[in-house]
Formats: sequence, structure tokens, C-alpha cells
Amino acid sequence: MVVNDWRKSVVYQIYPKSFNDTTGNGEGDLRGIIEKLDYLQYLGVDYIWLTPVYESPMNDNGYDISNYYKINEQFGTIDDLETLIAESHKRDLKVMMDIVINHTSTEHEWFKQAYSGKENPYRDYYFFRRSADNQPPTNWESKFGGNAWEYDEKTDEYYLHLYDVTQADLNWDNPEVRRALYKVINYWIDFGVDGFRFDVINVISKGEFKNSSKIGKEFYTDGPRVHEYLHEMNRQTFGDKDMMTVGEMSSTTIDNCIKYSNPERQELSSVFNFHHLKVDYIDGEKWTNAKLDFHQLKNILMEWQTGIYNGGGWNAIFWCNHDQPRVVTRFGDDSTEALRKSSAKMLAITLHMLQGTPYIYQGEEIGMTDPHFDSIDQYRDIETLNAYKRLKNEGYAEDEILTILGQKSRDNSRTPVQWTGGENAGFTSGTPWIDIPDNYENINVEAAIEDDQSILQTYRKLIQLRHEHDIITYGDIEPLYMTHDKLFVYKRHYKNETWLIIANFSKNKVAIPEGLDVEGEIVLQNGSIVNGLIEGFGAIVVAQ
Ligand code: NOJ
Repeated sequence: MVVNDWRKSVVYQIYPKSFNDTTGNGEGDLRGIIEKLDYLQYLGVDYIWLTPVYESPMNDNGYDISNYYKINEQFGTIDDLETLIAESHKRDLKVMMDIVINHTSTEHEWFKQAYSGKENPYRDYYFFRRSADNQPPTNWESKFGGNAWEYDEKTDEYYLHLYDVTQADLNWDNPEVRRALYKVINYWIDFGVDGFRFDVINVISKGEFKNSSKIGKEFYTDGPRVHEYLHEMNRQTFGDKDMMTVGEMSSTTIDNCIKYSNPERQELSSVFNFHHLKVDYIDGEKWTNAKLDFHQLKNILMEWQTGIYNGGGWNAIFWCNHDQPRVVTRFGDDSTEALRKSSAKMLAITLHMLQGTPYIYQGEEIGMTDPHFDSIDQYRDIETLNAYKRLKNEGYAEDEILTILGQKSRDNSRTPVQWTGGENAGFTSGTPWIDIPDNYENINVEAAIEDDQSILQTYRKLIQLRHEHDIITYGDIEPLYMTHDKLFVYKRHYKNETWLIIANFSKNKVAIPEGLDVEGEIVLQNGSIVNGLIEGFGAIVVAQ
């Protein structure tokens, strides 16, 4: 349906490489997405977000762009993208592109020029710095492991790469760089896209190049000129158009996110933050094996919900994306079919009743699980492979490492969408680029469409409710029972309406807290409340 305010929309994230393959080469493509647009219309989402499909050596699956104006052959042609946008529009679906402008691939022409010598005019498009004593300019760490500076023997200088060594950071302080990037954005606006997701956009403004006691984050996270640059970008590109934008924010703060997304400041429409997905880390370290800290999860989510709402900003809300493991395995329970179904629905209801714009990551809507890989040979992701090497070097046993990767690897969510119970889950007629979990015979879109009690039906209902009830979009949020060990409880208020949401994060029955009035009209329910007990993984939405 066409929503009259972007804030009422639901976004579906597509990771094209794993979505649907029409050529039989084992990797998804744009034609594959076109084939499934009817399904997305049936699901009811408003926007689709495509992770990068531009020309790229694909070292980081497209987040290493070598030409912003070309489509990677693997995904198809520019005509395919044009058709995809036209076919989406026919179905009232809007299309958001992923824009990666903190860095380019080292195969980008700008970088090749810059790398060719100190005098090249493109040198200042990136950060090349000298070392005083044959050491990298700073001790900053790359987010994918190792030092963030790569040595170039030819010129005896280092270049900065906060991510992979093949992803060189662009110098936003150079106005020519900014102009060139705005041109890219305007090209895609003219091409007909409806919005943008900006990759790690809060690290574009680097501060001083100084040694750090942390990994360097404090010098570039929400850096000194970031708000100025985003405001400028807004004015020079999408600001006066009907477009939805979302910025991916690395290790940010509520105050900064209010600034990024409060419309008065003319920066972005909304923000992704990740604090609520670091609640199974040990001391902030991702590559550890830890259980969910439920109190932390609630505290962080609610702090962001109320903080952003009160500051007039706008949250993007999500459990899953291509960098995160599957939520049903992570915060739910995929050990039996019944638990998988009930916990996935509970998690969906908890998230979709929150304030902000919900994102559904491909396969989440049918409760796809982590693949539970048991060999390093099954992993493909560059970050995962680097972490494997590092943990090996640090003396971890193979088993221990595989357990950690099984919990944290980005490949957990990158396995192909399970469309059918047939060969290769209906994803490809060839050999999939990454293994498909064994459970596809049971967990697949075809089966979910046929089952009126499926997780998919809960997602459809949640999307429909958002379109029909303004309270979900505009209502404020009141956190309740924050110290409860098992229940996630909150109310939404809008005009004269109140909705109560109760979700049970444990697999056992839990008593409804004394004094909590659960009377009212049931809007949506997963499991019921009987004799004052809510079912394991139950979730209920009541209009009061
Ligand atoms: C965030 C993206 O989501 C991730 O997949 C990518 O590796 C980094 N940014 C670097 O572009």
C-alpha cells in the first residue's frame, strides 16, 4: 500500500548475493529480485533496501565499490536495475540504495590515481600520511583486524583503511571529494531511486591522527565536522526531495543521533545504532561466546526509544541485518520447531510495536536460523576469516573458535533465502556460494505461505497493523517492569489510546506481574494468558 508518511513504512532488506539466483551461477542477481517482487508485495512492506550492487571486487561483498556508476556484472545490468525499480513502483514498493562513501575499493580509479604517486591530484582524496620512525602514523586498529594503516613502499607513506585493507577511507575534508560524492548521490536520485542507506556515515569526519588507548574510535566516531558534512550533503542532494534516508552509525550516542535525524537540522531521516546488539559480547568484545544479557537489552532499547523520541529524532529498529546473526537463534530458541516458531513471533511483536521504522532482513520473516556451520571451510566472510586467524594466533582451540564464529559470524545471516523445500532451497540451480542450512526442507517461504499460523503471517499482520494504527508510529513509549528477569513490557500512548505490549523472553510460563491490568481488546497475540500466566515465548498486544 502507499503510505502517506515515510515514518509509517516498513523496510525489507535484500542482500542480493543471497536472495535469488536466476543464472545458475550460485549467486543471487537483480533479475532474481524482480522475480520475487510479488512475494514482497504479499508481505506488505513499503521499501526495499538493496545492499550494494555497484561494480566491486567483492572483497567485502560490495561494500568495496570500484565504480559508483556501474552495476556489478554478477548482479546484472543497469537495465535490470531500471526494470527492478519500475516493477517495484508498479507494486507500490519503493527502492533504497546503499551508499558507501566513507571509503572506496582500492580498485576505484580515484584510489589507483592517488596511489600512483605523491603529486597526483587524487592523492588528497584519501589519507596518505608519513611515518616518523617507520611506524604507522597512529596505532588505530582496523575494524576487520590489524593496523588501520597500510604501507606503500613506493612513496614511503601509509594510507588509512578503517575496514579492510582494500577499503581506503576517503578524505571528506577535501571539498572536491564531497562534490564528487554528491554527484554520485544525485545520479542515483535522477535514476529514480526513492531513498538511501548510508554506510558507516558517522565515521566520515576524521579528527586528529593521534595514538589512541582504544582502537582509535574516539578520533573519528561522530567526528568533528560530521554534522556539517551531513547537512551539506542533505542540501546538495536529497534534502528537497521526497526521500527516506537512514544512516548506519558505528558506536554512536543518543545526542548525536538526535542531531543526525531531527528534521530541523536537515541531515538524515533516521539512524541505525547497534548498542542493543552488543548485549552478548564480553567487555565489548564481539569475538566471544556469551549469553544474552536480557536486562542490558531492555535498558539499551528503552534508553534509545525514549531518548530519541524525546529529542525529536527517528530510530530505525531492527534485530537482523547482513552483519548480525539470525535473531531467532540469538535471542530466541531454534532447538525445536515449536520453540523456533513461538520465539520468532515473540521477537517480531516486541520489535514491531516499538517506536521507529522497522527493518526486516531477508529470511527473518520465515524464522530462518543460523546455519550452525561446523568447519572453517564453510565460512566466506572476510571479517570472520580474519577473526579466525587472530584467535588461532592467540592460542584458542579450533572447537572454541568455531563456537564463537557460530555465534558471531556475519555469515550466519548470509546463507541463501530458503524459498522452497526443493533442491538448494529453490535459491539456485547451481552450487550456492555458501552452504544452505539443512533445515530448508521445513523452513521455507513456500511452506510459510501455506501455513496460516506461520511466522510469516505474524510479520504480515504486524506490517498491516502499522499501516492502520497511528499509535504504532506516532505514540510515545512507556517502559514498564524494567527489572523483570523474563518479561519485556511497555505501553504506547497516542491521543486517547493506550496499547500494552507484554513479551515473554523465556520458554517457560511466567506470571503476569501483580497489579498489571491486562484487560482490553486483544490486537495481536502469540500464545495466551491463562490463570495469570503468559505462555513461554508468548507475546500479546492489548488496546486498553
Ligand atoms: C557496514 C556494512 O554493513 C558492512 O557489511 C561493511 O563491511 C562495513 N560497513 C564496511 O563498509
